[in-house]
This record gives sequence, C-alpha cells and structure tokens, in this order.
Amino acid sequence: MSKADELFGLGGKVAVVTGASSGLGIEFARVFAAAGANVALMARREDRLRETAAAIEKDFGVTALPVAVDICDRAACKQAFEQADKSLGRIDILMNNAGISPTGRAEKQWEEGWDATLELNLTALFQCSLLAAEAMDRGGHGGRIINIASIFGHQGSSLFRVSSYAASKGGVENLTRQLAVEWAPRNITVNAIAPAWFPSEMTGGSLDKGDIVQKMGSATPLGRMGRAGELETAALFLASPASSYVTGAVIPVDGGYSVW
Ligand SMILES: NC(=O)c1ccc[n+]([C@@H]2O[C@H](COP(=O)([O-])OP(=O)(O)OC[C@H]3O[C@@H](n4cnc5c(N)ncnc54)[C@H](OP(=O)(O)O)[C@@H]3O)[C@@H](O)[C@H]2O)c1
Repeated sequence: MSKADELFGLGGKVAVVTGASSGLGIEFARVFAAAGANVALMARREDRLRETAAAIEKDFGVTALPVAVDICDRAACKQAFEQADKSLGRIDILMNNAGISPTGRAEKQWEEGWDATLELNLTALFQCSLLAAEAMDRGGHGGRIINIASIFGHQGSSLFRVSSYAASKGGVENLTRQLAVEWAPRNITVNAIAPAWFPSEMTGGSLDKGDIVQKMGSATPLGRMGRAGELETAALFLASPASSYVTGAVIPVDGGYSVW
C-alpha cells in the first residue's frame, strides 16, 4: 500500500451521503467511492440517485446504494439508515450535506422559509448524526461525521438575504463542536466544512442575476468562486485516516472570504 493510500484510502468503509442527487453531494459521494468506500446515496429524487449510483459503480467498482428518502420525515429517515447499515454491512462515514437556502427579506422568511430550512439544515442533520453514531457504535469501530456548514454560518451577508439559512448553518457549526466533545469517547470525530460559493442547483438561480459573480469574486481574496473539485479534498481528508486527530474543526473552503 502506498503512503497516499494509507493516509487517504477508504477501502472497506461505508459512507452515507445525504443530498446525493445533485450538486456537492454527488461530488462527495464520488470522491469517497474513488478512495474505495461503498456509498449509500440519500435524497428524495430516486431517478437522480439511481443514475448517480450507476455511474459510481461503473467508474469506481464499489457498491453504491440509492436510498430515496425525505430526511425530514423522521420515521423514514430512521428506516433509511437501517437500510443502509443492513445492506452495506456498516456505516463509517456520514456526510451531512442535504440543505436548502431560500432567499428573501427576514420578514418574508419568517412567513415562508424558516421552519423548512431549520428542519432540514439543522434538525434532520442532527437526527442523521444520531442514527449514524448508533450504527457506528453497533459496529464497534467509531466513525466520521462531516457536516456541510457555510461561510454564512459565521458571517452575515450583504449580497444575499439568507436569515433562516444563516441561522441554520450557525447552528450546524456549533452543533459540530458540541458533538465532537460528547462523542470523542466513542471514537467518533465530528467536523464541518464551511464553503463559500460553488456552482450547483442551489446557487445556479442567484448566479444568473446581474453582476453577482463579479461581486462575489471581489469579496473573496482569491478573486473568484469555488470550482467543482475544490471541496472534495477537504471531505476526503476529514473522512480518511489522515484526519484521525482532528475533531470539532470547521474548515473554511472559501478562497479566503472569511479572513478579511
Ligand atoms: N453550493 C454552494 O455554494 C454552497 C455553499 C455553502 C454551503 N453549501 C451547502 O452544501 C450543501 C449542498 O448544496 P448544493 O449547493 O449541492 O445544493 P443542491 O444542488 O441544491 O443540493 C441539495 C441536495 O439536498 C437534497 N435535499 C433537499 N431536501 C431534502 C430532503 N428533505 N431530504 C433529503 N434530501 C434533500 C436535494 O435532493 P432532492 O431534491 O432530490 O431531495 C439535493 O441533493 C447544502 O447543505 C448547502 O447549504 C453549498
């Protein structure tokens, strides 16, 4: 085995990725599979999951299990984790990636976006963490939980009106720290990645508007948005043996946006 495989290989591991029917979730599932993990793909759009699973199996020769589920449905979410654990034999890694980001004035968000955003981005993420941790305990091997936060989990935004999203991601950041402390004795590390702007279905609509891409670039020291492939390295690091002594960290992958 090469030193790189020793550090970053995931052979024999099972990773659950939520929100794996589009955007960043597909990127995370693919990098875990490329490192040798079998993967369970969770989201609501079953056709997308099947397509992604077939491509992963073809490209990487691992098992990819599509599990169609609304993770806000607590009973269905529990069943989905049981299915993944039973079908793939274990759960070692949870990538808590599913999320929504409604935009609009705070007053409007109170009427429309708040409950749904908090329910998915924070409450469902917490339940998924609990379910994965139970499976890790059952397997007796510990594990890795990786939460997708956001730059808006620790900063306000002058460009986007995202009150419910910002509140949910702030919650994700500090839940990450608290679970890291509580679950360290169970050999479960809990970390987060805080991305800035990456192309996906979520950001697609906003990026078409006016000079937003240029404005986001000038708000970022590296002068541009993130590119496909620039988040997967942080995810692989946090999932792999290389990060065995890292827990409770929130890693910004933001072109420097949060440093000035
Ligand atoms: N893109 C960015 O610039 C950026 C920046 C910072 C943070 N993030 C975070 O990164 C994560 C992924 O975002 P993305 O940009 O890849 O957006 P995306 O393409 O819109 O993906 C969101 C995913 O969440 C899934 N999802 C939504 N509601 C769900 C539910 N109730 N149950 C299960 N799955 C559900 C969607 O699948 P279905 O519709 O099929 O259920 C989809 O796969 C989010 O947490 C987001 O906040 C993104």
